[in-house]
Amino acid sequence: MDKLVINGATKLKGDVVISGAKNAAVAILPATLLIDGICTIENLPHISDVTLYCEILESLGAKITWNTPHEITIDTRNIHSAQAPLEITSKFRASYYLIGSLLGRCKEAVVGLPGGCNLGARPIDQHIKGFEALGAKVDVGQGKITASAKKLTGTSIYMDIVSVGATINVMLASVLAEGTTTIDNAAKEPHIVDVANFLNTMGADIRGAGTDMIKIHGVPKLTGNATYSVVPDQIEAGTFMLAAVASRGDITIHNCITKHLESVTAKIIEMGANVQEDGDTIRVWCNKRPNRATVKTLPYPGFPTDLQPQIGVALAIADGNSTINESIWESRFQYTYELNKMGAKITAQGKSAFFEGVKSLSGSPVFATDLRAGAALIIAGIVANGTTEVHNLDHIDRGYENIEEKFRKLGAKIKRVSE
Ligand code: UD1
Repeated sequence: MDKLVINGATKLKGDVVISGAKNAAVAILPATLLIDGICTIENLPHISDVTLYCEILESLGAKITWNTPHEITIDTRNIHSAQAPLEITSKFRASYYLIGSLLGRCKEAVVGLPGGCNLGARPIDQHIKGFEALGAKVDVGQGKITASAKKLTGTSIYMDIVSVGATINVMLASVLAEGTTTIDNAAKEPHIVDVANFLNTMGADIRGAGTDMIKIHGVPKLTGNATYSVVPDQIEAGTFMLAAVASRGDITIHNCITKHLESVTAKIIEMGANVQEDGDTIRVWCNKRPNRATVKTLPYPGFPTDLQPQIGVALAIADGNSTINESIWESRFQYTYELNKMGAKITAQGKSAFFEGVKSLSGSPVFATDLRAGAALIIAGIVANGTTEVHNLDHIDRGYENIEEKFRKLGAKIKRVSE
């Protein structure tokens, strides 16, 4: 496996272009299974989760043509199986979208129990509740989920928890159902809107995505024959915003939707950073040690849990003491043990972490415990004095396209080395 070697104490400066959103791409790809036709997807991020999804779709009978490294054409007219390869699907979390898509298309689905980042318990009871309400029978056992239905019928579903995955999955299962489905207490993340826009472009009738009530009027068929461009990655953009703050740098971030970043912008201004927005560009610069802050992660439009480790790096070196309350995942502070190896003073307990700001970090070997923790450790290595080695890069490669190249262009002294 590769590692990143970073020589730190760098103030990041320059321009970076944001890729298509990972979390939208990993839902749009399985959503193509609902189409009985051909479609083209642009602005796909070049990441390993996308490669895995393409392998799965091909194994089910889809024909995929890579037009460019970021654009594919998918022909889903000859889907011949509703059984996804278990060994691939159990490698990553977002494989759960195959249940909703295959159920919608084939009225049956067999999918490996989803793996992915270890952020604590990751139940899928709300997904299952939604599928059952639509008329499916769902069994979980022997490492897989099996769902089947004679037919799916639209109904009203109230989500007990605001869940991104359950909202999208139930939306996928309802698109071809008979009648109207209402999802109440739906999640509102930008990629939910993106998946709904994709499906509507292909012929679906979904209204209200981005609010807490989504209505899906079932249609008999999605014909496709259209091109769709994946929304820019909110979390990647936020990662570079926080890298600018932590490194006391000056980064202009292109191809982002500034509205999706409002919670981050507000928080980093509070921490003493400067932010200038201009169309789809956002410039962040910070000339001083960041101010202390209190952060609480929340579903959108709150501060995203997927940016919690990255802001944790800025708070580790902030002037004063800070607190982060993590309200989504129960084990998202594993990165704090790695930051402490670099000289941070962080005490994590349960869903809270207390940060005693230190003046600087020092380089150390560290291990990415999950995708976003990995991004945070890269930022920490760029900020720290001396040399940092970041191990377990497969986590990072799942969701960030060419991350070291993007940081290198901003001045980071970073290289990938085979171990
Ligand atoms: C998605 C994102 C992930 C992000 C998370 C929260 C993808 C592929 N992943 O994950 O990067 O961190 O949203 O923004 O888009 N829950 C239940 N029962 C369920 C479903 C969820 O109790 O059936 C709980 C979870 O344990 C968690 C909370 O609800 O505490 C939110 O989870 P959810 O929004 O579903 O996260 P994911 O879709 O898995």
